Amino acid sequence: MIVGVIGSGTMGSGIAQVAATAGCKVFLFDESAIALQKAESRLQSTFSSLVEKGKLSFEKSAEIRSNIQYASSLQELKNAELVIEAIVENKEIKAKLFSNLEQIVSNDCILASNTSSLSIASLAASCKKPERFIGIHFFNPAPLMALVEIIPAVQTSEIVMTKAFYTIKAWGKIPVKARDTPGFIVNRVARPFYGEALRIFDEGLADMPTIDWAMKTFGGFKMGPFELMDFIGNDVNFTVTETVFHSFFCDPRYMPSFTQKRMVEAGYLGRKTGRGFYDYSPNAIKPSVDEDPDLGKMIFDRTLAMLINEAAEALHYGIASTEDIDLAMTKGVNYPKGLLNWGKEIGLQTIVNQMDNLFEEYHDPRYRASSKLRKMATECA
Ligand code: NAI
Repeated sequence: MIVGVIGSGTMGSGIAQVAATAGCKVFLFDESAIALQKAESRLQSTFSSLVEKGKLSFEKSAEIRSNIQYASSLQELKNAELVIEAIVENKEIKAKLFSNLEQIVSNDCILASNTSSLSIASLAASCKKPERFIGIHFFNPAPLMALVEIIPAVQTSEIVMTKAFYTIKAWGKIPVKARDTPGFIVNRVARPFYGEALRIFDEGLADMPTIDWAMKTFGGFKMGPFELMDFIGNDVNFTVTETVFHSFFCDPRYMPSFTQKRMVEAGYLGRKTGRGFYDYSPNAIKPSVDEDPDLGKMIFDRTLAMLINEAAEALHYGIASTEDIDLAMTKGVNYPKGLLNWGKEIGLQTIVNQMDNLFEEYHDPRYRASSKLRKMATECA
């Protein structure tokens, strides 16, 4: 298969690696020659290190490397059967690119966007043939994360959906079909992991290291919420939250936190700037944790209830199937268990009760229990 990848940054170069490793001929294009050069040297050193570690033979790495062409003009993508766009997250710039691209590629070429936050329908609308347009959303780092969300727009044809799904599967990934709604599956269902942690902190119920400790100790999460926000980057994480919040017409369930906003304003973006919620300088003092089991359990129970409630709400609105929602969270963000299954293990009625108690305490619609969760709890009883 001939594949075009546009944008050779973090995501585009990773997607090119995945497609080339699966045997596709890849044309990687970036409007910046410097960015393209950087991608080339980054990919070369990735392949060298895979060979050094014995994960790839020298011959195989040479074959994969020869599958990637670094294109200096968009014109070179003319024979592509599938083009995946991973450029800057800006609707107008993406729309302009797709309308240029349609003048170059064949009528059958599938056009896809890796966008995290724009609606697929709005991007498809910028095409003359919107039925060939689809969302193909990889996770970072694309070569390592198994999950890929496949998001048909209202305009997307069934055949394009099927082709995209099976192409991604053939590339060794786990595709899940998601509805074209803000955050798709993962970026929506994961919001309470960050949002509730920030809320608990903002209320002064616990400090950040204690919240991180609670989620790792009681929940088995690999990183706590604040560690993860610092890892992702507060700028990126805050923008996703803000976009989801506004896209859902300011539903309080997704309300961003001033604490994180101030971090962004201060330039405390996380690991990449050496300072975020935590200090990453060499002489930083390790923060202390209040290892109070009752406090830890409260933090974990409250956050997990919100996560399970969000998963139930996504199911309620047909964002994806039960299996795919659980798969998305374990394969897209490495959660220790699928949320809907986790809820069943604990007892869905217990989760409903936790939500109702929170609602009773705060009288805030943020804590309204999903009607789907209630229904599932009754059915399970
Ligand atoms: P990035 O900033 O690392 O790379 C973007 C690249 O696109 C740059 O090299 C830039 O020179 C190039 N570019 C910008 N405008 C262009 C144009 N008109 N034509 C050709 N090239 C152009 O960005 P990143 O992080 O790779 O994100 C790309 C897309 O993937 C965005 O839509 C983002 O929302 C999405 N995404 C990002 C994830 C992440 O964790 N970074 C995860 C999943 C999706």
